[in-house]
Amino acid sequence: MTDRVRLTVLADNEVCRPGLTAEHGLSVLVETGGGVVLFDTGQGRGLAGNAEALGVNLGQVHAIVVSHGHYDHTGGLATVLEQNPPARLFLHPAAVKPKFAKSDAPPHREIGMPESCRKAVFAAGERVVWNREPAEIVPGVHVTGEIPRHAPPAAGRFFLDEECRRPDPFVDEQALWIETAEGLIVLTGCAHAGLPATLDDCRRLSGGRPVAAVFGGFHLSNATNEELEAAAEALERAGAQVIGACHCTGGRGRDFLRRRISGQILDAGCGARWEWP
Ligand SMILES: [Fe+2]
Ligand SMILES: [Fe+2]
Repeated sequence: MTDRVRLTVLADNEVCRPGLTAEHGLSVLVETGGGVVLFDTGQGRGLAGNAEALGVNLGQVHAIVVSHGHYDHTGGLATVLEQNPPARLFLHPAAVKPKFAKSDAPPHREIGMPESCRKAVFAAGERVVWNREPAEIVPGVHVTGEIPRHAPPAAGRFFLDEECRRPDPFVDEQALWIETAEGLIVLTGCAHAGLPATLDDCRRLSGGRPVAAVFGGFHLSNATNEELEAAAEALERAGAQVIGACHCTGGRGRDFLRRRISGQILDAGCGARWEWP
C-alpha cells in the first residue's frame, strides 16, 4: 500500500499543453512514497525534452518498466539508462526479440526495440531484471509479468518474423498496478493481451481489490464493436472511476468509452498530471 501517488505523462500521441513534443508512443512517470518508476519510454524523440519542460529529473528514477517490446514504448531506453546508471530495468525476455507489423505487401515493417536500445539493455548487465513473473518494483508498485489471456491472439497485424507468418502472442506484455487506499491504479502499455484480461490479472494478483483508475493505451483504434464493448464492460466490472485513455486507445475508442461508461474519461496526453489522494 502506498500513501500518495502522482502520475505524469512524459510521452503520448497528443500533448495537453504547448512546448511539449507529441509522438506515437507512451511513457508515464509514477511517483509514490515508495519510489519513482518510469513506465515505458516512448519512441525516445520527446522523452528528454518533455521531462525537462515538466521539471522531471530522469536521474531520480529508481526503476524502469517496459510494458512490451514495441519501438514506441522502448525507444527512449538508451537515453534513460545512460542518464540514470543506478536504475533497475524490468522487462520480459521476449521484449528484446524482433517484432513486425504486416504491411499490404512486403517488406513488412520492423516495430521492435531499436538496436541502440537493445545494446543498452544488454550493456546494463545486473541492473536488468528479466521478469516473466509478477514482481514488486518499489513498495506498493507491482508488475504483472505474463498476463493470462482470455482467448488466443486474434489474427491481427503483429508478428514475430519478417515474413509475418508467426503471430505475436505478446507474452512480453505486462501492466503496472499500484496499491492505494482507494483501490488499484493500473497502467497499461498497449493492452495487447486485451483490457479485460489485463484488469482481471491485476485484480487477481492484488487479492481481488477493486480498480480505482486505469491509464494508458487500450489498443482500441481499430477495434471491432465487440472489442469496444468488452473493454467498456471490463472497466465497469473492475469499478474504475477515473480513466486516462491515451496512446493507442484512439479517438474512436475514447469517444465510445465516454458514451458507454459511468467513469470519468480524462484527457491524458503528454503533460497531463494526476495526484492521489
Ligand atoms: Fe504502443
Ligand atoms: Fe504495442
